[in-house]
Amino acid sequence: KGVKALDFDKYIRVIDDFPKPGISFKDITTLLKDGEAYRAAVDAIVEQVRESQPDLIVGPEARGFLLGAPVAYALGIGFVPVRKPGKLPGKTVSETYELEYGSDTLEVHADAIQPGQRIAIVDDLLATGGTISATARLIEKTGAQVAGMSFLIELGFLEGRKKLEGYKVFSLIKY
Ligand code: PRP
Ligand code: MG
Repeated sequence: KGVKALDFDKYIRVIDDFPKPGISFKDITTLLKDGEAYRAAVDAIVEQVRESQPDLIVGPEARGFLLGAPVAYALGIGFVPVRKPGKLPGKTVSETYELEYGSDTLEVHADAIQPGQRIAIVDDLLATGGTISATARLIEKTGAQVAGMSFLIELGFLEGRKKLEGYKVFSLIKY
């Protein structure tokens, strides 16, 4: 659909044993610094997101901003950031999710999303699904609806998709 077909995985750099032994890190900075690949990846995500007819894009800090913001710009709709605690100045809604060791919290401005709005979530990576599940719960707490979730990369072997039953989940590259 007008998007130049690229092998996006060629632009992802895999770094073994980062940040911990045994983890094979998917580094998207090598895609982002290539203008043609970055634009093609954003365009491909835009085509997926368009199908869910969202009113707003929501992206989690920090890498979700790098894809979510240009997608919102391309569609001419707003972008709402989901941030780590203490970063947003207004009244917030928050959600805590479990990590391998401990837990993490995400926040969104309480007045940023209106009940009944259709929200598309964009992030760079679906791994365990913890980040995106917490983001979806934040959106649902505001009374809005998650219309779709789009990722550049999905780590299929972590089965994050299983946590996301009932949602429309798209990814461009699967490992
Ligand atoms: C990474 C990545 C996703 C999340 C995926 O973010 O950007 O947001 O992990 O993992 P999950 O599916 O297991 O939740 P990270 O928390 O490392 O922070 P960053 O985006 O600020 O780099
Ligand atoms: Mg992230």
